[in-house]
Amino acid sequence: MSAVPKPLLSLRQWRVAFGANEVVHGIDLDVAAGERLALVGESGSGKTVTALGVLRLLGSARLSGHCWFDGEDLLQASEARMQQVRGQHIAMVFQEPMTALNPLFTIGDQLAEVFLLKMALSRQDAWHRCAEMLRQTGLTPVDRFMGSYPHQLSGGQRQRAMIAMALACKPKLLLADEPTTALDVSMRDKFWICSTPCKEKLARPF
Ligand SMILES: Nc1ncnc2c1ncn2[C@@H]1O[C@H](COP(=O)(O)OP(=O)(O)OP(=O)(O)O)[C@@H](O)[C@H]1O
Ligand SMILES: [Mg+2]
Repeated sequence: MSAVPKPLLSLRQWRVAFGANEVVHGIDLDVAAGERLALVGESGSGKTVTALGVLRLLGSARLSGHCWFDGEDLLQASEARMQQVRGQHIAMVFQEPMTALNPLFTIGDQLAEVFLLKMALSRQDAWHRCAEMLRQTGLTPVDRFMGSYPHQLSGGQRQRAMIAMALACKPKLLLADEPTTALDVSMRDKFWICSTPCKEKLARPF
């Protein structure tokens, strides 16, 4: 009999509150490596804040419970540790790409920064990896998209750029917050995402 795999992410009694207003009321969930888990709920039910809370990106919100990631309770982790975890170990495709992308930098520069800072690649290698990621997400011709600013992209193209950025470091876990809402319907079923391994995450036809 094979052993039950240890979860990569475990939330226990996970609560999120803004002041006196508790918006996530103690959820438990497990995600194993290579597993996909969908969080389903009506608008305002707390899907986004649950995910943002895992990355401790909620500013003034009060988080409680346990958030075990790969054996480490992220609620107890230092901010310096969280900076390593974000992007490198857990990446997120945000619900609103326009607020997540920096309007002042080109897509190429923002994507390259991930490789330069998180993976310490040389400029040339970073550029090659950027091109590869853009090709995988269907943003071709690559040169055009590398030099484009976020406002020069359509909503769906921005969402693809976000997906490319999230997958760049091959994270162990990908939090995908409605990652295909801006993609046209014919593309959505071709653009599936899973948690790990993160290589070849995006299915054909790209
Ligand atoms: N920064 C904040 N300050 C106060 N309340 C907030 C904040 N962010 C979210 N909320 C509240 O938390 C609740 C959950 O919001 P959340 O964005 O997680 O919903 P959701 O399930 O992702 O909804 P949707 O499907 O519309 O994206 C909502 O009632 C929202 O108003
Ligand atoms: Mg949401």
